[in-house]
Order: sequence, then C-alpha cells, then structure tokens
Amino acid sequence: MDYHLRCIECNKKFQNDSLYTCPSCGGLLEVAVDVSSADFKLDGKEIRVWKYSSLLPVKIKPVTLHEGGTPLYEIVSSKKTDLYVKHEGLNPSGSFKDRGMTVGISKAVELGKSMVACASTGNTSASMAMYSARAGLKAYVFLPSGKVALGKLAQAMMHGARVIAVRGNFDTALRIVREICVRKDIYLMNSVNPFRLEGQKTIAFEIVDQLGYCPEAIYVPVGNAGNISAIFKGFSELREAGYTDTIPKMIGVQAEGANPIYRAFSERKETIEPVENPETIATAIRIGSPVNARKALKAIYESGGRVIQVSDDEIVQAQKLLAKQGIGVEPASASSFAGFMKDDGEFESAVCIATGNLLKDPEEAVMVSEKPVEADPDIEVIERLL
Ligand code: F0G
Repeated sequence: MDYHLRCIECNKKFQNDSLYTCPSCGGLLEVAVDVSSADFKLDGKEIRVWKYSSLLPVKIKPVTLHEGGTPLYEIVSSKKTDLYVKHEGLNPSGSFKDRGMTVGISKAVELGKSMVACASTGNTSASMAMYSARAGLKAYVFLPSGKVALGKLAQAMMHGARVIAVRGNFDTALRIVREICVRKDIYLMNSVNPFRLEGQKTIAFEIVDQLGYCPEAIYVPVGNAGNISAIFKGFSELREAGYTDTIPKMIGVQAEGANPIYRAFSERKETIEPVENPETIATAIRIGSPVNARKALKAIYESGGRVIQVSDDEIVQAQKLLAKQGIGVEPASASSFAGFMKDDGEFESAVCIATGNLLKDPEEAVMVSEKPVEADPDIEVIERLL
C-alpha cells in the first residue's frame, strides 16, 4: 500500500517515516494512505486489527498480541437510541492503546529502533511495556508521580519497562520525554506519533464490520485527543473507499476538571488554551494540554459533532450503570456513556467507546462501591446479612 506523511497544517508531504511533526511548520502529521488498496470485506468475520492490514502502513510482519476484535454490546438506556458500547478494555493489556501499539511497535522494529519511550497517564505505558517486551525492545516510561492507577503501573513494571515517576503532571512528562527522545535516539510512542493513530482507526472499521452499518454518533472520552482523531480518520477512509456513505458525528467527552477541548469547542475555536492544573477522578484523561487538539477539533467540526463535559460524579454514576449491565470499565472509559446520558437522545444509533478495563483502577472501584461486610464464620449471623 502506498502512503506518505502529510502535515495537517501546511499540507506538505514527506516520505520519511521517522518524523513526528512537520519539519517546516511544526504541525501534526498524519499518514495519508491510498484507500484504493483496501481489500477487506466488512462481513462481520474474523475481526481484529490486522484484518485491515491493507490500510495499515507497516511493511514487516507485525508485532501482535491479537488485539482488536473487541465486543460491541447492545445496552439498555432510557433514550430511544439504539445504543452500543465497544468494550476496548478487553484488548490484551486492557485498553484501546493496544491497537495503536501493535502498529507503533511494528514501525519501531521496521525502523531498526532498539528503544522506545512514552509519557503516560498509565494505559499507554502499560501497552507499550507489553508490546516492547514482545518485540525485545527497551522501554522507558515517564509517569506523573502518584497519579497513575495501580493496575497500569503494575503492568508497566511487570513487563520490564524502566519507570520514571516525574514530579509533575502528564503534560510536563510529555514535554520531557519528547526532548529525551530527540537527544537519545529513542522512538517516541505517544500519540503525536502518526503511526500509532493508524492502529486506532481500526475501531471505526470494526464498528461498521460488527453493526453492518455506520452509526449516527460516536461518543469518545478525550484526553490527549489522539483516539477521537484516529476514529474519525477511520470512518473517513471507509467513506472514501466506498464502504459507507456517511460519517458519524464525533462527540468528544471531557472531564470538567480537564476540559481544554470542551472550552475551545464552546467558543468555536480551532486551537486550545491549556488548562494549567487538570484534575479529575478519571486519571487517564487528566490532561491540560492535549497534543492532538488540532486534529481532534477538525474531526469534531468536520463530522458535525460536539464536545460534552461531565463531572466526576456523572462519570462514577455512568461507570456503575455500565457495571450493572456486566460491563466493567475504568472511570475515564465511563465518561463516553456519561456524555451520552447527558445528551438529548436525538440519534437513532450511537456507539460509546469504553476505552479501558475496570481492573486498571481497582482503588477507585473499591472507593466508590459498597464495602464488604465483615462477619464471624457463623451461618446464622451470615444468613441475616444477606
Ligand atoms: N480513556 C482511557 C482509558 C485512556 O487511557 C485515555 C488516554 C483516553 C481515554 C483518552 O484517549 O488521549 O487518545 O484522547 N490515555 C493516555 C495514556 C493519555 O497515557 O494512557 P486520548
């Protein structure tokens, strides 16, 4: 498949896969793929990331842990919408990041890199640690100290990444890792890397593959703003290749305490003002200066979508409602459903992306759930407790 990198700002084209941003204007890059190469059928069969390899810009045998193919659950809601939740928490490392990582780490190997790094609120680092272990690459992880959920930290550590807890927030850690990657010739795996987003666009392919049609709206939690951009790109490619006639409205959902994209959208702006001290129970999206803001805002405007903000209380309530339907997700993941619940139900069909697994943040789950009751091993006493 033919592809090149293209700057989303100045439109310049590049054939150098090692770039992250435009050498002439500093804009974000995207991978422009030749959609006429698409040779998959959206027939609901054998769904997983590499089913769509004809639109994925990797030239080697990919590094894979069998990612994608996540379930699309129909769920009961009070609105008239046919509503589904795509449970990305059922990927190998427990989040949607694996889709990006299988492509990103394959690209690292293809480029002959031996070291990779990322800043992360937790899930990217967990996934990167796992895939670099699989590929035999050295992984360096930069985390905001004390602000990463336990499950994610455990994954990064167990899979052998070198973990550096930066005293600062995610935005600071990302600034540092970008500089370190340049100095040390380490391959950067954050979503400023355009190849990672290529993997994540398969969420769009899978939704149409599973549903058999293109839904009217997609609700996506927004942190660093890569995923919503990637999903929009996926739907755009499907339309360009003739698989669908329409593109869903991309509806971004942010936490009230970390809402720069919401603020920009409210004023119909195309750039953001960073939020200085972002704070939310949804630590995965505790981000004040999203790197992919420009791509995300384009996706939202071009698709006729919007941005909703939700409070921490609304996030926890949505998490509990999903849990009641057997869908276990971490707080950030529940924000998409929280956004749907706040919306006015104007759509006939919608999909909420649940981005990460409940087990990622066990401390939060314990904190917001009913506590276990301690009891002596006495049948009658225990019977009364039921
Ligand atoms: N949901 C979860 C569970 C996440 O981990 C993230 C991002 C998002 C949503 C937002 O996605 O950044 O593409 O807008 N987590 C990153 C990380 C920042 O480091 O794991 P986004």
